[in-house]
Order: sequence, then C-alpha cells, then structure tokens
Amino acid sequence: MAKGREPSGRKSSERAEGIRKGRFDARMDPLFARFNASVSFDKRLYAQDIAGSIAHVRMLAKQGIVNAKDADAIEQGLREVREEIEEGRFEFLEELEDVHINIENRLREKIGDVAGRLHTARSRNDQVALDTRMYVKEQVSQVCGDLAELMRALVDVGERTVDLVLPGYTHLQRAQPVRLGHHFMAYFQMFRRDWARFRDSLHRADEMPLGSAALAGTTFPIDRSAVANELRFARLAENSMDAVSDRDFIAEFLFDAAMVMMHLSRLAEELIIWSSSEFGFCTLPDAFCSGSSIMPQKKNPDACELIRGKTGRVYGDLVALLTTLKALPLTYNKDLQEDKEPLFDAVDTVRSSVRIMARIVHGTEFMADRMLQAASDPTLAATDLADRMAREGVPFREAHERVGQAVRDGSRDEDRGALPSPEEMVEARNHPGGTARMQVMASIRAARAFLRSNALKKGLSGCADRVVRKE
Ligand code: ARG
Repeated sequence: MAKGREPSGRKSSERAEGIRKGRFDARMDPLFARFNASVSFDKRLYAQDIAGSIAHVRMLAKQGIVNAKDADAIEQGLREVREEIEEGRFEFLEELEDVHINIENRLREKIGDVAGRLHTARSRNDQVALDTRMYVKEQVSQVCGDLAELMRALVDVGERTVDLVLPGYTHLQRAQPVRLGHHFMAYFQMFRRDWARFRDSLHRADEMPLGSAALAGTTFPIDRSAVANELRFARLAENSMDAVSDRDFIAEFLFDAAMVMMHLSRLAEELIIWSSSEFGFCTLPDAFCSGSSIMPQKKNPDACELIRGKTGRVYGDLVALLTTLKALPLTYNKDLQEDKEPLFDAVDTVRSSVRIMARIVHGTEFMADRMLQAASDPTLAATDLADRMAREGVPFREAHERVGQAVRDGSRDEDRGALPSPEEMVEARNHPGGTARMQVMASIRAARAFLRSNALKKGLSGCADRVVRKE
C-alpha cells in the first residue's frame, strides 16, 4: 500500500482487475502484465492527464452529462491526486497498467464510485492522444527556449571572435581564410532553422483529440470546443479515427530533434578536432572534459563526444517510431504505446545536449596565434591570386590553371610580397553573406534582433506549459 493511500479494503491486484471485470474469466498472466504495463514511463504524463480530465469533467457538467456535484467531487479529487504525485506521496502501481488507470483508481479510492463518471464519453485512446499532444506542445516550447540559449551563446562567441582569422576548410583541406565569428554564425543559422522547424511543428501538434472516444466519437452531447479552449488548443482534430491513431506529431518532433542533434554533432566534431594538439585552435572548458585513468596528461573532450554519440540514439528514436507506425491499420493499436519511450528519450537527450553545448561554446578559449599561423599558409591565397589575374583580363579558368601549377611546383615565382594577407582576404569578401568584418557584424546584429524579437517569444506562448501547471 502506498504511503498516504487510505486503505481501500481491496488489494491492488484486485483493483487492477477493474477494467477486466465483466469480460474476462482469467487473471492476466503476470509476465504479460509486466509486458503490457506502461506506467513506469507514462507516469511522466500525469500533469497533462489530470489537466485533461479536469477540462473533460467540467465540460460533462456544463453539458448536463454529469451533475455539478459529482463533477466538483471529481475535480477536487483529481487536484488532490495531483498534489499527492507532486509531493511524492503517490505510488504508481504496475498492476494498474498505465498512468490513466493509476490516477482513476486513486480517484475512486478517494471519492468512491462517483469517480466512475469521469470516463463518460471518453476512452483511453483519445485520452492518451490528448496527454501526449499536450506534452509535445510543452516540450516544443522548452526545446525552443534551450535553442534560444544556444543561439545566444553562438552570437556571443561569434562577436568575441570576429577578429580571429583561421583557415576555412573544404574536404578538411585548408581552403580560404575566414573569420572565426563567421564560422560560428554558420551554426547560428542551423539552429535558427531548427528552432523555426520546431515552432512550425506546433501547428500540427495543436489539435484537440478528445471527443473521439475509442475511435468513432461518442453518443453523448459533448462540447469539444469548450475542452479545446480550456486546454488552449488551437483547433479540434477533425476526424475521430485519425485523432486516436495519429502520431505524426511525435514523429515530427523526433525528426526535428534528430536534426538538432545532427547539427550539434557537427559542431561537437569541430571542437574535438580543433582542441587536438594537431590543430591547437582551442581549449575546451575543464568543466566539460574528463581525464584518463592511466594517462596523466590527458584532457578528453567527453562532453562533445557524448553529444556526437547521442546523435545516433536520437536517430534511433525517430526510426523506432516510424517503424512502429508503418503499416498499422486504423485506428488505435497497442503498438502505439511504443511511442512514448523514444519521445521521452529524445526529449531528455536533445535538451541536455543543447544546453551543454551552449555552456561549452561559452567557455571555450581560442588560440588566435595558432589560427592565424594556419591561415597564413600561402596556398590559401591561391583563389585570390587567380581572382586578381582574372580581374586583369586573364580568363578565370586559365588563371586557375596557372596558379594551380605554381602551387604544385612549389614555385616562388609569384611575388610573395604581393600575396594578400589573411586579413586582406577576409575583408575582400565584402558582400551580404561574406566573411568581411562588416558583413559578419551585420549578421550578428540581425541575429541579436531575432533573439529579441516577438517571433522568438511567440513560438513559446500558446503552448500547453501553462495549462498543465497548478491553477
Ligand atoms: N497505455 C496506453 C498507451 O500508451 C494507453 C491507451 C490504451 N488504450 C487501449 N485501448 N488499451 O497507448
């Protein structure tokens, strides 16, 4: 018996028979009961579940489907259950299968059989669809906040390093000099797109499924719009069969998360390479590195490596869900219970990775001399020399060939005094999107305006996070 639970006079295993009563003769096989239970992970949805039930029962009362007294008792009971959960006094029981039955059972223990009226005009099928949508909406807003923090870190480090010049690479071969700030602002662009992708996904997650009941709707005179308004959903799900079987919004969340991880892993990889002795371009913050148990000199970039490694795990979450959904007939199938662990795993992984990367970016030190030295490699001026010849009338293809030959021969024919410096080369690329100082600063200013803008904040309101908090 859980702490704080009043004795119900019945053993939990008997209570668990609740929804089997009537239809089944035999108890569930214990091995299957474990297999079937989702409460160990779907208890994460308790706040959404209770907020959804309160909205539902208020609507039932308003529509005269349940009388006001019973509805009040149910709402009050649900608030108490929520308090028990939040104060750690609630024990979720595996034999009660999932978060929904655990909460409903506790409600019955508290207020008696009137609790049974809560599930009028509802099924766990539309209930779990509702809970998960509310959860996804809330997490989208959280991830967007985390991404904003990372974008801020990137803009800060971009501005701090705008005067450092390093080689830009293609094929990981030195190509042309660039400003380090320009390099970081490239990552800003990636995360800005990721942020927008998440925000856009809200439109599709923001549909209220309740009222679909098991699959076909309900015979009761419900008011779905009232529930949608109370729970701050933008729209009603338009088709009851789709509403109970659609998990596109989770797949979309997982894709968006996978994309963030992919971008993070590229940045992580660069920091790993740059912090190696071979490059020596940067020193990662001690707080995000580990030592070796045998080699005293080691300082390993573990946090970056873990971000790179966990990217595969989030891809796995996405592929797991898509595979679960593949070829499922309409409507609800128990396969859909497999949607939650990948979702929760991706939420935890992407959120911690984004936040850790923001701190790493903040704390990394850059070795201006090493970078400049690498950028002063005379071969990096090859394009600029060819450009110069082209400006003097030589067709660019021919200029390209002549400079290429000179590089191959290691010839010193070209007047070294006439070679542009790395600084001159970056400044020569002075057009929108280029690496000249004024262009990088313009992109930094635009980024700061974006981070201050309402657009950024708007994505975060209208989400369910306020709804599921205590009123
Ligand atoms: N635990 C279930 C899930 O996560 C809840 C819905 C169960 N519905 C049902 N008809 N068995 O999908």
